[in-house]
Amino acid sequence: MAHLPLFAQIFAGGVVAWCAYRVVYNLYFHPLSNFPGPRGAAATRLWLAYMELYKGVSLHLIRMQLHDKYGDVIRIAPNELHFANPEAHNDIYNSRNKWDKDYRTYRAFDADTASLCLTSYHDAKQRKDVLNPLFSRTAITKLQDLVRTRIDMFCDALGRQYAEGKYSDLTLGCRCLAMDIITSFCFAQSADATNVPDFNSELVHATEEMLPTLTLGTHFQAFVWFIRYTPQWVALRMGSPVIAALFRLQNRLTEQIDDILRNPSSLENALHPIIYHELLSPEAHKGRPLPSKRSLLEEATILVGSGSDTVGITLTTTVARIVSSPQIQEKLRAELRAAWPDVNEPPRYEALQKLPFLTAVLKEGLRMFPGGPALPRVVPPEGAVIAGFAIPGGAVVSQCFTFVQHAESVFERADEYLPERWLAGDANSLESSIVIFSKGPRSCLGINLAYCELYLALAHIFRRFELAVDIKRSPDFTFKEHFVPYFTGEHLHVACKPLDS
Ligand code: HEM
Repeated sequence: MAHLPLFAQIFAGGVVAWCAYRVVYNLYFHPLSNFPGPRGAAATRLWLAYMELYKGVSLHLIRMQLHDKYGDVIRIAPNELHFANPEAHNDIYNSRNKWDKDYRTYRAFDADTASLCLTSYHDAKQRKDVLNPLFSRTAITKLQDLVRTRIDMFCDALGRQYAEGKYSDLTLGCRCLAMDIITSFCFAQSADATNVPDFNSELVHATEEMLPTLTLGTHFQAFVWFIRYTPQWVALRMGSPVIAALFRLQNRLTEQIDDILRNPSSLENALHPIIYHELLSPEAHKGRPLPSKRSLLEEATILVGSGSDTVGITLTTTVARIVSSPQIQEKLRAELRAAWPDVNEPPRYEALQKLPFLTAVLKEGLRMFPGGPALPRVVPPEGAVIAGFAIPGGAVVSQCFTFVQHAESVFERADEYLPERWLAGDANSLESSIVIFSKGPRSCLGINLAYCELYLALAHIFRRFELAVDIKRSPDFTFKEHFVPYFTGEHLHVACKPLDS
């Protein structure tokens, strides 16, 4: 210290004094200081960064361990609480609550003008009102052939791989399928990932490999700036083919946006409605300014991210659970054969939605989705009561959906994949406990598209193929939470034998 110039000594002393003040304040005087949790977490957010980044513990395990130790509500960071009691879910995520999102989690996406990341309720509502018509149930039902075309191409790839004597990597394959659907749906330009040999799409690898950067960005704003301001050529020099694939996607999206901005009437030639029909429609914006080019690009990127991993993971894990039970697989196939007797004449989405067992395997697949983020919301200034606790305004609160969907108090034998629970007399009462798409004003924009993809894909996979898992490589869905699960174990490898009739 003695070697430093005086102004630097004063600055360093000021920083130390400020940090000491914050720690003492957080520990003893903060409005949340009475809530239980580790002292480190109460003192500074760096505790969570240390646990996740240095110790390498997944956030979903941290939450579980802390609830085991401290009870129903934990202080996981100085200004943040997480709740274990399923009752809390409805208190936080419901249609009456117009709460903002907490910026820290969402800044990591570096897309603060896109629907997912707009933290303010009002800004997000305006954007979602604009996009909703494209993702409504009616619009999706109309565009189901687009989903089907991509599923047909995926099934062709499965058939080819079988003919070559290969097991298909469905962990990659389902992600490729979801990527192709979301890109053709949003932009009328498919990524064509399912056509890459063995589903080894660099773009799909890239979206997965980028997930850990979300955790870094949540903890350190500087990292987000670093990613944003590093020029492409520098990043390419430092990076792998994976980074190049992401840039190629960004460049393709930018090119399309540039073309449309230069020549808006080109939208009239699009094969079907795409996001820019809504995002650039003055009527949809009711006199408000149209989104900037940056906002269009951020929205496009976020839609690709939100619509690919989520659907890909649900499909992979649901297929894995079905194939691990010969009885479930047979029952599902029997139902599909009855509703779809000629394999070359697939039923429409509307008909598939009416099949009870297909619906049950899908709902149970969604229920058992392995894990994901707790979605942090800011309590409004007047405060709120959550699961019986009075919470002061300004506090950040959240509950990961697994605390509802995997709770024994809500679902008996919650650890088991039991589609039959959705066929029992009391199944309707369980419906409201499927919270995987979140509830309230910030719930999933793509829920109708996701259901359409999942119904069609599951039906086609199990009606058109006989599936057998590679017993030498049993799938392992161990994951680390980086907003969505980042799987670290063996992929799902399945031999998909085409059924002729
Ligand atoms: C099984 C598939 C899916 C699951 C489990 C899922 C889950 C979720 C969840 C939990 C949220 C709330 C996020 C938050 O509060 O920050 C959300 C929001 C969102 N989802 Fe999905 N999603 C799925 C599919 C899709 C698809 C296919 C799209 C494509 C359009 C999509 C687009 C979005 C968008 C844009 C938001 C932001 C909404 C907002 O912040 O108001 N999702 N999704």
